[in-house]
Parts: sequence; C-alpha cells; structure tokens
Amino acid sequence: MSFPHKHLIDLSEYSADDISLILDVAERFREVNERRIKKVPTLKGFTVVNMFNEPSTRTRSSFEIAEKRLSCDTLNFGGSSTSTVKGESLLDTVRTLCSYKIDLIVVRDKHAGVPHQVARASGVHVIDAGDGKHQHPTQALLDLYTIRKRFGSIEGLTVGIVGDIGHSRVCGSLIPALKTMGAKVVVVGPPTLMPARPDLLGADEVRFSLDEALPQLDVVYMLRIQRERLEGAPFPSLREYNRLFGLTREREHLLRPDAIVCHPGPINRGVELDDYMADHVERSAILDQVYAGVLVRMASLYLLLGGNEHGADA
Ligand code: CP
Repeated sequence: MSFPHKHLIDLSEYSADDISLILDVAERFREVNERRIKKVPTLKGFTVVNMFNEPSTRTRSSFEIAEKRLSCDTLNFGGSSTSTVKGESLLDTVRTLCSYKIDLIVVRDKHAGVPHQVARASGVHVIDAGDGKHQHPTQALLDLYTIRKRFGSIEGLTVGIVGDIGHSRVCGSLIPALKTMGAKVVVVGPPTLMPARPDLLGADEVRFSLDEALPQLDVVYMLRIQRERLEGAPFPSLREYNRLFGLTREREHLLRPDAIVCHPGPINRGVELDDYMADHVERSAILDQVYAGVLVRMASLYLLLGGNEHGADA
C-alpha cells in the first residue's frame, strides 16, 4: 500500500497508523545508519531542494545527511544568497526551481503558512522543516521516535511540555501527534508564555508550576526560550525564569525514577536546563533526538517519494 500523503506539513492530518509507519521505517533505516557504509541507492534519481530561509543546525544538517544516505541529488538553497534579496517573490523563486523538474522541497521559513504556499505553487512534495510559530512536523516525529525507543510505546505515557508554549512550533506538531499516539499531554509554563487560549492546543492539562507538574511526568520536554520571538517582557529576567521553570539538579528529586529529559535544541544552557540535566547520562535523550532526526527524515523522504514498508532496507 502506498503512503496516503503527498506532503508532510500538518501532522494533525496523520493517523496513528501513518505515524507508526514512519517510525517503523525509521527503525529500519537505523540499521543502515549503523553499517560501515551508511548509504543505500533507494532514492537515486530523485532531486530534493532544501530551502532554508531561517537559521538551522539540526534540521538542515540531518536532512542533508538523510538525503545523501538515500542517494538523492540535492540543492541547498535559501536565505540572503538568493534573488529574493533583489525583490523576487518566494513563490517565483519556487516556480523557477521547479523548472528543473525537482521532486520535493524541504522548506523552513520564519513565516507561518509558507510550506502550504510552496506546495500550491510548486505541485511537488513538500516537507515543512519549521514555519514560524506554526508547525515542525519532523521534529515531532523524531521526538516520538525517541520516546518510543526509550519506553517501548507512547500510549499511556504522560509528557510535560515546559516553557515557551505560546511561541512554539514544536508544540504545534508535537501535541496533536502525542494525542494521536495515545499519550497524555501537560503544558507547563508561566501564564505570560501561554497562548491566550491554551485549551485550543489540545493538551490535557495546563499547569503554571513546574514543581507541581514534575512528579507526574514520564517525559519532561523542555522548550527553548525563543528570544528572537519574545515581545514585551514576559518574565523579569532569564535568571528568574531559570529559578521557576528551569530543569536543574536541585529539581531532580521531583522526577520519576525513569523519567527522561528532551529538548528540541538549540539549548540555552542555564535557562531551560542546567549542564547537569542537559548532559545527564541516564535521563537526557537530547542527543538521541538528534540522531533520530536523520532516521525519521530518511523515512519521511522515502515514504513521500513512493516507498512503502517493504524495501526500506535495500
Ligand atoms: N530543533 C531544531 O529545529 O533545531 P534547528 O533550528 O537547529 O534546526
């Protein structure tokens, strides 16, 4: 059976079966990534454009590695080196690139909704690599992969997402995906970093005290304080934020014995997490998340470009 989606833009359109298939295919690509020669000819002949109009370390590098390991041809493109600085619209840029008979565009942009516009203008497959405050679906998939790998299943877990909920595109994808997979979701943060209607996020609970929330959590998912998106002064200082909402060594006694710590990166050390929790050998899953980024991006490219559950390990 072929994959029932053309794009990976809105994860709330994906069923539990769709998400499980991506995670299962990612697991098969893990085996490829643990070989000495980490490359398969699976997507040879396909051309993928990586259009990053906003800075990225993890998402951009892991897409590039995923594409190379699947033998795609790639074009890395975007930002201030393109003719958009001369006044060309983004959509004319997209139409220009499509003249090269490309197959898929990976797009990151600071404006919400750009991946949908790119999909309409291009007609090719599109993966949203993060758009404004809206969605970041491959981040959510790598988070789900990491959580499933640690606990064996996502269903029945309680996941706390902590911090800058209101500016978070990670929340935009992760909350609906966790709900689809049967987890309970608790959002935690100061009222000034919550959206006006936190109930619309789809979380099961909203809490304003980290200390009260921690004992119930299997996964403590710390969000980055997005200094580039903050308006006004939502908290008195970063030090004060860390005192009330930072996951620190002093708070470890509040964690469940097997609770894990996640963060999408980049980390503001000393703000969301201290060094002790960020680098905790048993609890921190942060570098596992980064590695999972390659696996789920390989799986997403493969399935969108016509692959199925058979043949992921060619
Ligand atoms: N998590 C994430 O999207 O990181 P980058 O901005 O480095 O890609």
